[in-house]
Amino acid sequence: MERGKKLYQSECLACHQADGKGVSRLAPTLVKTPWVLGDKKVLIDIVLNGVSGLEVEGEYFYNPMPDHSRLTDKEIADVLTFVRNSFGNKASVVSAEEVKQRRLAKKK
Ligand code: HEC
Repeated sequence: MERGKKLYQSECLACHQADGKGVSRLAPTLVKTPWVLGDKKVLIDIVLNGVSGLEVEGEYFYNPMPDHSRLTDKEIADVLTFVRNSFGNKASVVSAEEVKQRRLAKKK
């Protein structure tokens, strides 16, 4: 969690903000959204590949989210574990192994 928090501060905070609530029209909230709390595969893919065109709580965003594939499996696992257990969220941890599987799936 501590490592995840530091990574969040360096990699995600600029857009999603310290409280995880995002900025209207620029970046969506990470508080209890179906992507954060739902299928880990989908969540891992968002961070690995970036994402665009989502409707989050009735809002669309002008800019896409960039990919974060330069982070290691462990770093992505740590930051997602942090996000899934912060800002009022409560969900299972993400392991480096799960991130590795998604990276491999993407290469195929
Ligand atoms: C440059 C700004 C930026 C950065 C940095 C960024 N995001 Fe995003 N993120 C966005 C935008 C914009 C969207 C919505 C894109 C769309 O669908 O149009 C988004 C969407 C998401 C979503 C899916 C929608 C939701 O709210 O549940 C998740 C989850 C997410 N980001 C997590 C992260 C995590 C974790 C990090 C750090 C590793 C991160 N983001 C870094 C801008 C950013």
